[in-house]
Amino acid sequence: MEHTQAKESNNDNRDETSYSRREVLKMAALAGTGIVVGMSGMASLFAINNGIRATGHVNPDSEDSHSEIVNKDEIPFFGVRQAGIVTPQQMYMCFASFDIISDNVEELKQLLKIWTESSADMSAGRGLRETNRQHQLNSLDEKSTDSSAKLTITFGFGSTLFSKNGIDRFGLRSQCPDELKDIPSMPGETINSQISGGDICVQVCTSDPTVAFHVIRKLAASSIEMAVIRWIQTGFIDASDGQTPRNLFGFKDGTANIELTSEQAKENHVWVDSSKGPAWMINGTYLAARKIRMDMEKWEQTFFRKQEAIFGRSKNSGAPFGKHDEFDAVSMREIPSDSHVWVARSTGTKILRRSYSYFDGIDPVTGNLNAGLFFISFQQSVRRQLVPMLSLLAKHDALNPFISTISSSVFACPPGPSEGGFIGEQLFEVN
Ligand code: HEM
Repeated sequence: MEHTQAKESNNDNRDETSYSRREVLKMAALAGTGIVVGMSGMASLFAINNGIRATGHVNPDSEDSHSEIVNKDEIPFFGVRQAGIVTPQQMYMCFASFDIISDNVEELKQLLKIWTESSADMSAGRGLRETNRQHQLNSLDEKSTDSSAKLTITFGFGSTLFSKNGIDRFGLRSQCPDELKDIPSMPGETINSQISGGDICVQVCTSDPTVAFHVIRKLAASSIEMAVIRWIQTGFIDASDGQTPRNLFGFKDGTANIELTSEQAKENHVWVDSSKGPAWMINGTYLAARKIRMDMEKWEQTFFRKQEAIFGRSKNSGAPFGKHDEFDAVSMREIPSDSHVWVARSTGTKILRRSYSYFDGIDPVTGNLNAGLFFISFQQSVRRQLVPMLSLLAKHDALNPFISTISSSVFACPPGPSEGGFIGEQLFEVN
């Protein structure tokens, strides 16, 4: 495919209007790691799609909204707290971690402003339509593009944004939360640093995987040559009919999250309040992400009853041992003391899990499936809530022979941006 020039036909679009073969190749390589993504390449590629003018409107509140079309799938980007944390889990995820290649705090703020504006637009369906449009052309189904696809875009800051190699690169070191520390190494794990950490993470969740792809693409395109994609992970869940999704081992995964659905529980366990952490993190939370490979071949050779004992729950219903229904209370006396649920529960701490299954094809060395769980949890305190759980699980969990952790990251998710403001702006106000 050779493109030499594309003319922009959408007047509202601020991106560049031409792209070269080299830029197309840069885009094609986006899924790799360590690629500098600048305006010239990504934005121009984005313009390929934007060249097709959108005809409908998506935001019912905007002046130009179309009376027949209402965007029912919109999850507001602006708010006191970021979306994509306690939001009901969408089916698809694309998680990207960026490294920032400038040491200029004004440029960093500029980048966050651009990303805020772009994310708000895409969450409202604007900008997604153009990208989706190309994907949808064959169906000629105009209405099917009038949706935000339940899109949420959640940002988090890694510890290296505050201090890298001992250097206070943006003058933000004094604001680094105590909580923003790497998770200590756990017995039996081998962490690959190339797919861990990063300066800024973006968790994109949506009901349409094409949308997730385009969101990352657009954020990268608008990064004013300040951001390098460090790593990307895609994921999916099986979320039929609002049921608890099943992980790749076939078990319902996320049942105990029900205990965190009350507002009070979220205040107690998820959101940072004024008594904890730096002021700029109030109404924020901490995100832990760990890529955990699952040995599918070994699991398939394991008897059904043993599989159930490993979790302490019925495979079919999800009910804890000794109970009938999935959401019945767990009785610690009735589940094996090395079962995953027993060990995870025994710390007495709670976390909000929002994980996705992943499938990265075949392991070229072993020929086995390269698949597992991209574990994501949100909590007020990684150190106090998650680390004790991980430590106990690493020692006692009957699941351990079937899993191996290969990446580990922690990010501080700031509060939600207000309209007219930008993501993380509270961090810069204190300086
Ligand atoms: C591939 C790895 C993992 C798999 C397949 C897995 C699967 C499951 C399943 C099936 C359940 C029972 C249903 C539920 O309540 O969701 C569960 C519960 C749980 N898991 Fe995991 N999990 C994994 C890793 C982890 C990790 C790394 C943690 C965090 C340290 C964790 C923490 C928990 C917690 C807190 C519960 C709820 C226990 C309760 O209160 O009943 N899991 N997990």
